[in-house]
Amino acid sequence: MTIIEIEQPTVVLSKTALSSTHGEDSPYFAGWKAYDENPYDQITNPSGVIQMGLAENQVSFDLLEKYLENNSESCSTWRKGVSDFRDNALFQDYHGLESFRQAMASFMEQIRGGKVKFDPDRIVITAGATAANELLTFILANPNDALLIPTPYYPGFDRDLRWRTGVHIVPIHCDSSNNFQITPKAMEDAYKNAVSMKMRVRGVLITNPSNPLGITIEKSVLEEILDFVTRKNIHLVSDEIYSGSVFISSEFTSIADILEERNYKECERVHIVYSLSKDLGLPGFRVGTIYSYNDKVVTTARRMSSFTLISSQTQHLLASMLSDRKFTEIYINSNRERLRKRYDMIIEGLREAGIKCLKGNAGLFCWMNLSPFLEKPTREGELALWNSIVNEVRLNISPGSSCHCSEPGWFRVCFANMSEQTLEVALKRIHNFMAERN
Ligand SMILES: Cc1ncc(COP(=O)(O)O)c(C=O)c1O
Repeated sequence: MTIIEIEQPTVVLSKTALSSTHGEDSPYFAGWKAYDENPYDQITNPSGVIQMGLAENQVSFDLLEKYLENNSESCSTWRKGVSDFRDNALFQDYHGLESFRQAMASFMEQIRGGKVKFDPDRIVITAGATAANELLTFILANPNDALLIPTPYYPGFDRDLRWRTGVHIVPIHCDSSNNFQITPKAMEDAYKNAVSMKMRVRGVLITNPSNPLGITIEKSVLEEILDFVTRKNIHLVSDEIYSGSVFISSEFTSIADILEERNYKECERVHIVYSLSKDLGLPGFRVGTIYSYNDKVVTTARRMSSFTLISSQTQHLLASMLSDRKFTEIYINSNRERLRKRYDMIIEGLREAGIKCLKGNAGLFCWMNLSPFLEKPTREGELALWNSIVNEVRLNISPGSSCHCSEPGWFRVCFANMSEQTLEVALKRIHNFMAERN
């Protein structure tokens, strides 16, 4: 374990505080710093760094704002004469508001095309998916146990799943030879690797659709993953926080669909994580959930959620918004359509600059292949190119190595956290950069 150097250590801190498993020394966060120091603004700082390293969804903000404007009364916790204020201000236990859990369950059903039902009593509320993933790790694994995760994966997992829990992540390596699909062999290899390091494997964690790949996991692959965890008698966590952001074909298969098809056989090892950070673009609201098919996990997670609850005021507002079926239907459809348009725009712009991407169908980013342009086909070569892109082109994108991609030269580029005009500026910069290199 590496220890962060503290200038003048006078009073001793805990091992957790000093551990580097927070993962913040990765280029993923270094790029954010470059943006923070010199942020692009069309008028005041047109040569600044454009933030393309943040998977945020701003394309449908106008719809949310319009809804709030038209429904300020029902969303408010204070109306003259009628006061929900006290209900909200006073003690709220960890079950959360019944109305919120019901609205969340039906929104989760709607996003998955109404194929499966979610029971509001199985919903555990958490402050975002970050808290949900950590909480599940605490419940499913002991310190020094392992979770297997397909690569490339969301860099935040290094912090969320490892730092405070003491659990290890063992990669299931996926690569471009089969479009980064998860295979039974890759899962088996990861399992053997963990065992050879004397770790006890407790589960597999997948993101579906995948961050950073921007693709949904095929149904047959999900079936193989469920068969694998059943064979090994371990858990499966499915982080489905981008499930409403599937913008090409409405075919999204949730692990919940597979369980339904199998009559809920082996369901007690499956846990779904969901949050409103991506689909509704509300990361600041900190709204997440764990949906587990295991009674014991639901009870324990609920107890543990005391540390990371959602404020009653936020639950109240969202209960009202998410139970308005007319609004959610329009929102989900428009949001998908707008994300698809953005995706087409970025893919076309990159294509014109001579850059290819993995064919995506979901998410707020594309997975860009710059491997033909690396001076050396190594992690160092990738980071050298990334350095030029951050400092010369002034775009913060995320290098694949920060997502533990085993193949150098891939980058995650976010396209939904900015205006169309800013995206045009970013594409023009990439175009010029590529033209200068040829
Ligand atoms: C796969 C994945 N899981 C979890 C999170 C964290 O989400 P939240 O803002 O709900 O904590 C992110 C955010 O980027 C993510 O991409």
